[in-house]
Amino acid sequence: MGTDKDSRSNIFTTNDNRSQHVIRRCTIEDLEGVIDVNERELPEDYPYFFYKSILDNFPESFLVATNSHGRIVGYVMWRVERIPAKDSLRLLSKGHLVSIAVSTASRRKGIASDLLNNSMPAIEKNNITEFVLEVRVSNYGAIDLYKTFGFEIESIKKKYYRDGENAYFMVKKVEGIE
Ligand code: ACO
Ligand code: ZN
Repeated sequence: MGTDKDSRSNIFTTNDNRSQHVIRRCTIEDLEGVIDVNERELPEDYPYFFYKSILDNFPESFLVATNSHGRIVGYVMWRVERIPAKDSLRLLSKGHLVSIAVSTASRRKGIASDLLNNSMPAIEKNNITEFVLEVRVSNYGAIDLYKTFGFEIESIKKKYYRDGENAYFMVKKVEGIE
């Protein structure tokens, strides 16, 4: 349907000198490959309909990275959440990083950075005030990545994960919003 066709012409970046990858919009046909990467690289797994609903609702910021064989080696997906402001009944929109992962063999080549660089402007178009995410407190690599993107640790969510591990709640304000 619409999103599939649009995304074919939606190739963003490729080839720095560290790797040969393409970043493009996810399509329905890609979901199997996305789920594959997720299941290999992260303990948090989601049912198919969850990926499908993110793709239906936020297709512009659901991106995949493919290698030179066209195989999916990474993905990023975001959603917009409407949350009451601390000091009023006003609802604020936040861009929530639902999940990002890159296959082990393709790491440290800038793929996650490319995925973030190309998806953040897309989710920002939903008039969000900030980008937010949760990350395991032990996930030093991901925490470093988020810090290089300007995220800061705002709080700890105790026992956020099913195995009891705590999460850092990290936030990056959208520029121009106080
Ligand atoms: N250790 C230290 N710093 C790191 C690491 C690491 N393992 N990985 C990334 N960084 C930092 C570095 O500053 C790096 O720059 P450098 O390579 O020039 O030093 C910078 O982030 C950019 O790294 P990328 O190459 O863009 O990141 P990569 O493609 O390797 O992917 C990711 C990083 C997504 C965290 C990957 O390691 C991964 O898939 N891990 C397993 C899944 C995961 O933990 N996902 C995040 C869960 S939280 C969530 O999804 C909201
Ligand atoms: Zn989350």
